[in-house]
Amino acid sequence: MVHQQSGLLFLLLCWIAVKAENPPSISTLTKSPTNFKDGDTITLHCQASATGSSTFTYQWFATDFEGNGKDISLSRYSHQVNTGRLTIRSLNHTQDDGYFYCVAKNTAGRVRSKRLLIQVAHLEVTPNVDTSVSKSALQGAELTYEYPVVQSFPEPMITWTKGGSALSESQRISFSASGNLYIGNVEVNDVDRYRSTVQNTYTGQSFSRGPVVVSVTARNPSAILSTPYIILGPTNQVAIQGKTSSVTFECFASGRPMPTISWRRGGQQIYYQAGKFTLTAHNKRLTVHNPRKSEEGVYECRVTTTNQHKSRTANLTIIVEPTFTVQPAMANRFPQESAMFKCNATGTPTPKLPGSTTGKRLHHQPRAEFK
Ligand SMILES: *[C@@H]1O[C@H](CO)[C@@H](O)[C@H](O)[C@H]1NC(C)=O
Ligand SMILES: *[C@@H]1O[C@H](CO)[C@@H](O)[C@H](O)[C@H]1NC(C)=O
Ligand SMILES: *[C@@H]1O[C@H](CO)[C@@H](O)[C@H](O)[C@H]1NC(C)=O
Repeated sequence: MVHQQSGLLFLLLCWIAVKAENPPSISTLTKSPTNFKDGDTITLHCQASATGSSTFTYQWFATDFEGNGKDISLSRYSHQVNTGRLTIRSLNHTQDDGYFYCVAKNTAGRVRSKRLLIQVAHLEVTPNVDTSVSKSALQGAELTYEYPVVQSFPEPMITWTKGGSALSESQRISFSASGNLYIGNVEVNDVDRYRSTVQNTYTGQSFSRGPVVVSVTARNPSAILSTPYIILGPTNQVAIQGKTSSVTFECFASGRPMPTISWRRGGQQIYYQAGKFTLTAHNKRLTVHNPRKSEEGVYECRVTTTNQHKSRTANLTIIVEPTFTVQPAMANRFPQESAMFKCNATGTPTPKLPGSTTGKRLHHQPRAEFK
């Protein structure tokens, strides 16, 4: 009798074991196409798998880059609950840029995917782009012209002409990464019309900007001061260790004669170092490759003529992304569910865990309470 009962129990356990589903894991997470621009259609695909299970339901969630939840019930979004596909039509970078993730569910549980980055290529034509601008400068002084900021992703390519012919950088003439014009130690033959074309090579969009019409007032050479001067100094840069491939500091000078440019950090001059530091012609730009915590600090651009110099500094700040020193248990929780986490993390700046008095709240979804 006892024997028979345990036999039945054994069969029952076997039946449960065969019947039981395992909670899903995400096996595929893709965006197609992988590059896209305003107006395009994109399909995000999330696919789950689990042993002993073949049917899943999927939900999608999205946040902007600050972590605020997005409404993806708009008619431009169509979502198939059974296939894990989310199609977005008429992509619009202002509305769609951000992170998307899915939640897949079967009868045994749920799993949340990693985040997919969506950043829609675009180029916005700057207002009054055709306007002609007049700029005048004294011989031996400097001339700068800064246009309205160009809104583009990825970074646009900007090309220049002077009097209709292609113009390249020289020791005196510089084009900043943001698309502005700088001339040091102005000469009488700088008089001309300067034009630039902004092109987004991915979207194929481009526009030409109205001319900068430069006039120069000649001066008696003895009236020209030879003081070195920085017309565009380096700006603070922030990099994420292991993620940011490089950061570039710019430094453009004026003076008569033109100053030489050098870069320093902690009192030491910086030279070319394979894979770490590169300098462009005339040392106008310093690039730090694969910046790490050891490169954090104050970078000085120094412009020097005979025995005078001027300096400008900028900081490189390195963010080390937090790594959890205690893995939060059951980290894959879902909207409308609550869970208890025990958590600690390291990184620099020191990560602020939500729930501490200075911490900021997490994303709108999922909501979390930390104890
Ligand atoms: C994108 O959406 C914004 C409103 O959020 C709208 O002003 C803009 O015209 C849209 N852009 C395109 C290309 O449809
Ligand atoms: C660079 O950082 C230091 C502190 O480390 C700060 O005192 C200084 O003002 C910063 N410089 C710039 C240009 O922000
Ligand atoms: C987290 O870890 C750091 C260093 O590992 C430690 O100093 C800190 O006390 C820990 N915090 C908690 C709440 O456990």
